[in-house]
Amino acid sequence: MGGRVAVLASGEGTNLQALLDDPAVGPSILLVVSDREDAPALGRARRAAVETLVLGSGEFPGSPDYDRALVNELQARAVDCVALAGFMRILGPDVVRVFAGRMLNVHPSLLPAFPGARSVADALAYGVKVTGVTVHLVSEEVDAGPILLQEPVPILPDDDWASLEARVHQVEHRLLPRAVRAMLEGRVYVDERGARIEGEPG
Ligand code: GAR
Repeated sequence: MGGRVAVLASGEGTNLQALLDDPAVGPSILLVVSDREDAPALGRARRAAVETLVLGSGEFPGSPDYDRALVNELQARAVDCVALAGFMRILGPDVVRVFAGRMLNVHPSLLPAFPGARSVADALAYGVKVTGVTVHLVSEEVDAGPILLQEPVPILPDDDWASLEARVHQVEHRLLPRAVRAMLEGRVYVDERGARIEGEPG
């Protein structure tokens, strides 16, 4: 695996920041793509002197057009590895197939529980006592690719969305850089039981 990383982010970009701050990952990030021009993540990339690109959803007639444009931009920069860090657009097969085994997503629940875009709120509303974080390889089925890393986060009696999200973020900010690092080091393996990092339990 070469060492050229693109990060896709739609929002605050705290996970992008964790990647930028990781000494083994940050220097490999050459592009940050967002579907929203007002995403604070773009400011984080610019402050780190990383190229930014906005591919707004409204600029393309349909999803396949969006996906082809994204693949063209990534391939033009010879991107090896893609990290989805709060990218809230669903990517179709045209992207997923090109980057199969090379695209990671961080998700704020213990998948397969609470897929989708409101996982922290959904876990709170359901009343589960434990939620968590999943880092998985991206497959054509949304939030269902081989799981690489998971870590539980307890839900406390007084938690509200903000307090729970803050603790979920703390875990995400450790797990996503660890996963990208392993991918850059060629230590990610996928088999019938899911994905694993060579030399690490799980
Ligand atoms: C993160 O919690 C990430 O897991 C979640 O969006 C947040 C982005 O935060 N992603 C999803 O819900 C994907 N379904 P950030 O912009 O501060 O990194």
